[in-house]
Amino acid sequence: MKSRRLDAILVSSTPGVRYLSGFTGSTGLCVVTPRRAFFLTDSRYTLQSKGEVSPAFTRIPAHRGLFEEVARSGVLPRKGVVGFEADDLTVLRYRNLKRLLPGYVYRPLSGLFENLRSIKEKEEIASISAAARISDRVFESLLQEIRPGARECDVAARISFLHRSSGADGDAFDPIVASGPRGAIPHARATRRRIRKGEMVVLDFGCTVGGYRSDLTRTIAIGKPSREMRDVYSVVLDAQNEAIGAARAGLIARDLDGVARRRIAAAGYGRRFTHSLGHGLGLHLHERPRISSLSLDRLRPGMVITIEPGVYLPGKGGVRIEDDVVIHTSGCRVLTAAPKELLVL
Ligand code: GLY
Ligand code: MN
Repeated sequence: MKSRRLDAILVSSTPGVRYLSGFTGSTGLCVVTPRRAFFLTDSRYTLQSKGEVSPAFTRIPAHRGLFEEVARSGVLPRKGVVGFEADDLTVLRYRNLKRLLPGYVYRPLSGLFENLRSIKEKEEIASISAAARISDRVFESLLQEIRPGARECDVAARISFLHRSSGADGDAFDPIVASGPRGAIPHARATRRRIRKGEMVVLDFGCTVGGYRSDLTRTIAIGKPSREMRDVYSVVLDAQNEAIGAARAGLIARDLDGVARRRIAAAGYGRRFTHSLGHGLGLHLHERPRISSLSLDRLRPGMVITIEPGVYLPGKGGVRIEDDVVIHTSGCRVLTAAPKELLVL
């Protein structure tokens, strides 16, 4: 706060509030000043916050809106510079804040805890790992269930059900089930389309455990796919394995991206690998470090990232394979363990 010349910081994002205070609910606000820390939530969460919020915070029940309560309770210094999470506060809430608490200079902060958060503690890795194990088991179950004629939306619903019934808090994001030509859309929404024999299906899903996420992609075949799609599969798998083999602390993220990208380009599919190699994973699905061809982020021990190259052929289909890994000094540990050889059901 000192180095940024701030007199107070408002932390409003759900993951930010959770990281700072321990509160897991969806409505909360932390107000941090150089001397004190306050936590505000509404009556729905009074009891829950009592059990969750760190004793370092003074809890303030908000009988009206959170910013109204900040204004009423006078927890902010009389004047000064107040930082806020620019990537969380909507324009509407920001206007409301300025109206309710005039007389301050507001400073947008971005990536407030991102660098801190990018290196995970042991407990954080344990939660991601638990989420990864659940997603692995869900994948195993799906293999018993997916048949020609199944609708993408039913497979997606099944993934959500299995996540929850296996002990996850919920999905980490809407499951992606993209069959046949729809596999060429990297983030396809599951539709009512029925999976046909001879098609590849991209399954991309994850769950949350204690707020931490898993993110797993496997591409399977329902009946024997075309020679071209099988070739694409082996190229993507090689690229993914090579990137996992190269991942270690000290590496610059763009160089890791380059390992997979070169392998895919050498097979002639360079222009069909249309997204970044991966991303940091934790309380957010996408967080620091960035794992792209432009990223200068340096990998450090304790970072958790995804490695997920893909090749997408419009009109034909797509292949993506994704694992979650923890970076170590001399390599990485893979948290997801679902099989990766091409499974033809
Ligand atoms: N698995 C979804 C994503 O990484 O965006
Ligand atoms: Mn991902």
